[in-house]
Amino acid sequence: KEIYGEIDQYEVASKEQLEQFRLRFISRKGVVTELFDGLKQVAADDRRAVGQALNGLKNRAQERFDEFARQIDDQPAGTDGAPIDLTLPTVPNLNGTQHPLSLVRQRIIQIFERIGFNVADGPEIESDWYNFGALNFPDNHPARDMQDTFFVEKDGQQSDMLLRTHTSNVQIRLMERQRANGSSAPFRPIRSIMPGRVYRNETISARAHCMFHQVEGIYIDRNVGFKDLKDTLYHFVKEMFEPGTQIRFRPSYFPFTEPSAEIDISCQICGGKGCNICKHSGWVEIAGSGMVDPQVIANCGIDPEEYTGFAFGMGIERITQLKYVVNDLRLYTENDVRFLRQFEGL
Ligand code: PHE
Repeated sequence: KEIYGEIDQYEVASKEQLEQFRLRFISRKGVVTELFDGLKQVAADDRRAVGQALNGLKNRAQERFDEFARQIDDQPAGTDGAPIDLTLPTVPNLNGTQHPLSLVRQRIIQIFERIGFNVADGPEIESDWYNFGALNFPDNHPARDMQDTFFVEKDGQQSDMLLRTHTSNVQIRLMERQRANGSSAPFRPIRSIMPGRVYRNETISARAHCMFHQVEGIYIDRNVGFKDLKDTLYHFVKEMFEPGTQIRFRPSYFPFTEPSAEIDISCQICGGKGCNICKHSGWVEIAGSGMVDPQVIANCGIDPEEYTGFAFGMGIERITQLKYVVNDLRLYTENDVRFLRQFEGL
């Protein structure tokens, strides 16, 4: 009876313990064999009954052994052969999230694609002509200065290649391509946006970075006027920002547009009441824009008497700052998961 009790309470969790069970109850040197050996001393009349009881015990031990052996075979084992405890909590599974700049870029593309703009691309390492010359920057324009522009050196000499300071180079390339087949080919209107990285030689701080992202847009066709520029950007602001956001055009200057305007919206952070972001003016600038200067259109081989157009450009970091209240530009490139995780599911 004692041995029955022992067998029933026995638990086996590993191959070693199974072997111990076998040695104790089943092997020739085990307790059950030992009890069988004692059978000789039992009185002849009782021997049959005791023998039956011992057979029952032997079968019980074998049953338990088979049961344990099956359990251990079914148990998942790690690479070291040790059993794995499936009841332990799992290591948390961290899924990646979309970067806020990607989210905003995709939203900007979506808004403009729905009103007929396509997406164009161009080189980040660009010649002086596409980044400056074709855009009417005079030779001595301060933006060409080493202060702002990263020039590419070749054989220790400054070359005329540089890291583009804006995505306007793609506007030039698009317009040029229109006339690449000769001026007799039919003119296909250009209505494109060009998202991409741009570079300026600035010290990295909360408010400036040497690399950031822009989306510029251009629309060239017959009879494109300033009202089309206004319509397009009003629509963009309405789609991108909170309902009720105010927009204003402020006269400005760019070498490649005439007239030019900067676009402000009512501050998204304080709702126009005044805060540090809008320097208590209630307005924040989001884009530059203007009618493409006829000289720039002519520089690309298109007749500015027949074709006109507008262009605009904005920084994706700025739009993201206003949309998600990101007040330090460095956060975008530091890959701190505490920052990035906040954009999960957006
Ligand atoms: N290229 C200008 C910039 O880098 C933005 C701009 C684009 C202004 C198109 C007017 C028209 O800031």
